[in-house]
Amino acid sequence: MWQPEVLVTPITTEWKIPLYKIFWDEDDVESVASVIRRGMFWTGGSSVSMFENEVAGLVGIEYGVAFNSGTSAQSAILTALGIGSGDEVIVPSFTFISTCNTVVHHDATPIFAEIETETFGLDANDVERKITAKTKAVIPVHYAGASCRIDEIIKIADEHDLYVIEDAAEALGAYYNDNPVGSFGIGAMFSFCGNKVITTGEAGMLVTDDEKLAETLRLVRSHGRVDKGSYFSSSDSFDYVSFGHNWRISEITAELGRSQLRKLHTVIKLRREVAKLYAESLNDLPLTCPNPTEMPGHIFQMYTVLFDSHSDREKARAHLTREGIMSKIYFDCVHLTSAYRSMFNTTEGMLPVTEDIARRVLTLPIFPTMTSEEVQMVSKTIQHSIA
Ligand SMILES: Cc1ncc(COP(=O)(O)O)c(C=O)c1O
Repeated sequence: MWQPEVLVTPITTEWKIPLYKIFWDEDDVESVASVIRRGMFWTGGSSVSMFENEVAGLVGIEYGVAFNSGTSAQSAILTALGIGSGDEVIVPSFTFISTCNTVVHHDATPIFAEIETETFGLDANDVERKITAKTKAVIPVHYAGASCRIDEIIKIADEHDLYVIEDAAEALGAYYNDNPVGSFGIGAMFSFCGNKVITTGEAGMLVTDDEKLAETLRLVRSHGRVDKGSYFSSSDSFDYVSFGHNWRISEITAELGRSQLRKLHTVIKLRREVAKLYAESLNDLPLTCPNPTEMPGHIFQMYTVLFDSHSDREKARAHLTREGIMSKIYFDCVHLTSAYRSMFNTTEGMLPVTEDIARRVLTLPIFPTMTSEEVQMVSKTIQHSIA
């Protein structure tokens, strides 16, 4: 039975080269300080809506609704679309577990479909095979900052009258055939968690062109309250028309998000330069690595390589750790975790392509300020480990 593979070498928090570093500057500090200095309106002010408009504008979408995590944003859209008991939602197993957990939390059933080997996104043919009369939605993931083959997914979903909710947690600023990732489905989720291209520590956003859906998302976010103006600075009573949560973000988070967003294009440019150095230096090794020159819309939130063999991946992973270089398996299969096995009777062999990829991938350090010496150090360490 599959178990998470624990390295023999002790895990250290003092990495010579960490997996990621946050790209921050004094403007970020000042943006947070400016809200603090207001002395009030740390919640329920105008910064949240400005942040929402700016993210939605970047994707070319009408509405943005900010949430305290990408997970809550995705959960909110499932609620808003009425997904619940008896429904099936098609998801990849090669993803962060929250993609699938949000479905489970709605008493719906996650149906796992295979991924394809080029973008590691959902395989449209397998999605089609998994559709039943109970299927309500598909959640394709844009892995590591590369768009999946979203046009193929949209085509099938349209033919079967299914919602497409883009899990674009890792792909803010990415493109598919000149169209922004996040502009294809009924809605798309972005994450601003610590390791993303721009971050506020934690937070997320749901973007949609559907006005009614955006309104419902705001209700889900804030206890089903009909906000006419700011709740915190009005002496009016407010009505509650449904049962929601407190999944709001603060003004401090929103201003930090706005400041980070202003750096997005610089961050993407620098990440793509590092990716190019990797592609050049890993070229002759027995692995497949993404090359930015062939992937113009990729933002490289992660740099993941696919080893020719599982044993090489394990040798490289152990050797990198010994040398103080952090790497990580993004992702182990969700369907093989203990929770999913026991709840859904999922087993090894169910998704052969996904399982094979998960056994051979390794995510290497990447961050905007990474030097060519650091890239060389990672590449050489891998080379020595599998020589
Ligand atoms: C593919 C994917 N989906 C969902 C999430 C969840 O986002 P968050 O951590 O903001 O809840 C993440 C991020 O961690 C992710 O990488």
